[in-house]
Amino acid sequence: MTYQLKPIGLIRTPYSTLDECPRNIEESGPVCRVIVNTEFKDALSGLDPGHRILILYWMDQASFSELILPSRKTGERKGIFALRTPQRPNPIGIAKVPIESIDGNCIYVKGLDCLDKTPLIDIKPTRRPS
Ligand SMILES: C[S@@+](CC[C@H](N)C(=O)[O-])C[C@H]1O[C@@H](n2cnc3c(N)ncnc32)[C@H](O)[C@@H]1O
Repeated sequence: MTYQLKPIGLIRTPYSTLDECPRNIEESGPVCRVIVNTEFKDALSGLDPGHRILILYWMDQASFSELILPSRKTGERKGIFALRTPQRPNPIGIAKVPIESIDGNCIYVKGLDCLDKTPLIDIKPTRRPS
């Protein structure tokens, strides 16, 4: 069985090659833009600067073939579900970051680790905003 995903926007980062991407999110990294398609703009209501959000994205340039891979950090070979590698059956990336600012359909956050124009698949709050 397969399921279809509907991208809800895209993520703009300074990284045009995989080698440029940080290994993982870096909260002090450069400002990135999470751009929601205008049809979903109203779904951002209730989100404000300072709120921590989970950003889910589809690491669309990844390939999947092996179940065991070396950790990029330590070199230790582990199952892919014990790693954050994009080389997995469903290449979903996740980042938990605070919102810097919001302008219309665009959320500004710092330090994402994905390629420029990576498809955005969801945004969720990490806790109930007060
Ligand atoms: C280790 S993954 C971690 C992703 C996410 N923070 C997570 O924990 O799920 C980050 C790496 O994925 C790779 N990557 C980033 N964007 C990608 C894309 N659109 N397609 C394939 N690989 C990507 C880069 O090599 C980057 O260093």
